[in-house]
Amino acid sequence: MSRHDQVRAIQWTGDHLRLLDQRRLPTEVTYLEFEDATGVASAIADMVVRGAPAIGITAAYAVALAARQRYRESAVEWQALLEADLQVLAASRPTAVNLFWALELMRECLAGVDNDPFDALLQEARRIHDEDIAANYRMGELGGSLIDARKVLTHCNTGSLATGGYGTALGVIRNAYTRGVIELVYADETRPWLQGSRLTAWELVHDEIPVTLICEGAAASLMHRGDLGWVIVGADRVAANGDVANKIGTYSLAVNARHHGVKFMVVAPSSTLDVQTACGDDIPVEMRPAGEICEFQGRMLTEKAATAWNPAFDVTPAQLVDVLVTEKGVIWQPDAAKIAAHLRN
Ligand code: MRU
Repeated sequence: MSRHDQVRAIQWTGDHLRLLDQRRLPTEVTYLEFEDATGVASAIADMVVRGAPAIGITAAYAVALAARQRYRESAVEWQALLEADLQVLAASRPTAVNLFWALELMRECLAGVDNDPFDALLQEARRIHDEDIAANYRMGELGGSLIDARKVLTHCNTGSLATGGYGTALGVIRNAYTRGVIELVYADETRPWLQGSRLTAWELVHDEIPVTLICEGAAASLMHRGDLGWVIVGADRVAANGDVANKIGTYSLAVNARHHGVKFMVVAPSSTLDVQTACGDDIPVEMRPAGEICEFQGRMLTEKAATAWNPAFDVTPAQLVDVLVTEKGVIWQPDAAKIAAHLRN
């Protein structure tokens, strides 16, 4: 593992699953241990682990854990019991398609075994995990080679914490920094969970990559100054036509980037491309509790009677995306035909 990639948020201990509790970063580095699917589903819903690829990988390990538990409970009825666990995992978060993609792969693996399924499922989860890391390194090279600016802006957290390791958009940034192209990364703080200030800044500081935090509202002014070359973000789901669901605030960045002539890159493994969903309007956007906006660390930030609208994601139209990078290659000005051809390769 290189210096620019020192974190593994999802760990298989040899016996059970260990997750870095991302809610406690940056002040505490604490790991939580899991032996069943219900606990893992709650951990996904409660943001112990987050980020589309990381959610998928975690769910895959959870299926292996659930299969072991259910087979021990009943070598006759384990399949029915396991089906309920799969449903609980599928209900944990709705937008990141990697969750459903990983559960489908685990189902396919399951279909090939009729006795104790644990070993086969664990092997499949490990394969999903390893392939995600490999895809991230490849995307880092592909996307990194396109970066031609000293200063870039990223949103939310797309690094080792959000993936199997290394990261999607942050992988591109790591690659371009290591090659001496990027000298400064601006990180949106990313309200309301502050993935930018708590997680992205934490990863970059540990990698010794210079990082400057901004409030989302500062992005347009930063672009107006003229020294920002690229906005580089990840994705939770890319529809068949190239519309991109990502952390709330991404759409504003894309509009602002186009207005100011700043290029906009989306970096996501092919597991995030969802050709079953025709366009962005069909992507289910998770609504999260008002308390995430109205309260901070248990303290009310507003009058009790005020309500809040708190979508966790927004959809950036494909027309605002200059380039989409997957591990399979690069798509300039993505659209339905280019994405279909890309996935056939
Ligand atoms: O709500 P989160 O923290 O799970 O949202 C994560 C994001 O939106 C990331 O930007 C996206 O998943 C890409 S992660 C490689």
